[in-house]
Amino acid sequence: MNDQVNGSSGITVMRKKLMGYVGFANFPNQVHRKSVKTGFQFTCMVVGESGLGKSTLVNTLFNTQIYPNKQPAEPTHDCPQTVEIQSITTDIEENGVRLRMTVVDTPGFGDFVNNEESWKPILDNIESRFDAYLEQENRVNRRKMVDNRIHACLYFITPTGHALKPLDVEFMRRLHTRVNLIPVIAKADTLTEEEVVAFKQRILADIKHHNIQIYQAPAYEYDDEETIAENREVMSKIPFAIVGSDKEFEVEGGRRVRGRRYPWGVIQVDNEEHCDFVKLRQMLIRTHMEELKEFTNDVLYENYRTEKLSAMGIQQDPSVFKEVNPVQKMEEERLAHEQKLAKMETEMRSVFHAKVQEKEHKLKQSEEELYARHKEMKEALDKQRIELEEKRRRLEAGRPMTPEKSKKKGFSFNK
Ligand code: GTP
Repeated sequence: MNDQVNGSSGITVMRKKLMGYVGFANFPNQVHRKSVKTGFQFTCMVVGESGLGKSTLVNTLFNTQIYPNKQPAEPTHDCPQTVEIQSITTDIEENGVRLRMTVVDTPGFGDFVNNEESWKPILDNIESRFDAYLEQENRVNRRKMVDNRIHACLYFITPTGHALKPLDVEFMRRLHTRVNLIPVIAKADTLTEEEVVAFKQRILADIKHHNIQIYQAPAYEYDDEETIAENREVMSKIPFAIVGSDKEFEVEGGRRVRGRRYPWGVIQVDNEEHCDFVKLRQMLIRTHMEELKEFTNDVLYENYRTEKLSAMGIQQDPSVFKEVNPVQKMEEERLAHEQKLAKMETEMRSVFHAKVQEKEHKLKQSEEELYARHKEMKEALDKQRIELEEKRRRLEAGRPMTPEKSKKKGFSFNK
């Protein structure tokens, strides 16, 4: 049976039934083999006040000492803004599948007297990882891309039983567009069952009130009913009320379980009736790790990339996809700069020319004035000289001549 389907791109697609075995049904196996060969990689950030059990939870999640026991740093009030960020990468393997797990910890978050802007170093860290990825994408050789972007951020909420603190709201508000936020109630064993339920409701109400986007697993139409129900169940537990411990205790029936022992019994980490640890691990590792990575790449990183490139003045023609060329962009900027310099030079030249002309005009004017004065003085002197000549002549005419003078004039005297 043949069918025609009009694709969204305007291409007419023929739907055909196979007459026999071709082999592409094996594609998922090919992908599986390749993935097992190359291994997986995941980066998770943990954020929360010191001593909320971040390291313990990471070790509990991966059932290994990913986190070495660290001494909590004493916060000093000399440098209240500092938030030190540590990154630990570990290779772990399960049934032949390798996972390179990176945990990014933010010790001291919220520990200082003034916690204003303590979210900033964390946001900078997340964005610098996006920048590093963007830089790799723009390289000529993109064969060995390293993805250090944060795929999930576990936000540890102090088990107060009341509501989110202003610092929690501020942190989540600042980061929800950059990272998959997964809120968890730390040390849930310190709250009763009823308190946990009420606290979860308050937290969700606060999150909604402040328009904070926490991670939501997408629902696919091809998902079977069991998967849909499983996802719904996992999502209904957010914020996960967790208990962490890497210590084992013996319980009824001689079973050894991971948990925390109290005088009245053991709180079991892996018991779904005791806490949401199993559901958190299921979502983070077993069912949604790839989803978290995909959402980071397709939505969070893509938005960041668009914002970044738009801020640089790079625009994309909506009808034609234009590859952004940073070299061309730099060349355009260089030309614009050179044109600006040339314009400045022309302007300076014309100003200089005008000034020279003005000076020349002034010099000529003063030269003419000097000449006129010189002429005037010469005429006055000439006039004076003529008058004096006249005077002398008149004087000479009215005075008897000396013998020498008479001689000169041809007179003779009788002796
Ligand atoms: P920093 O290293 O200062 O950042 O602390 P952290 O958040 O990594 O806490 P850490 O895992 O070092 O745990 C601090 C203390 O809390 C330890 O004594 C843990 O045994 C204890 N702890 C960890 N998880 C839990 C929990 O779920 N419940 C309770 N009651 N205590 C816990």
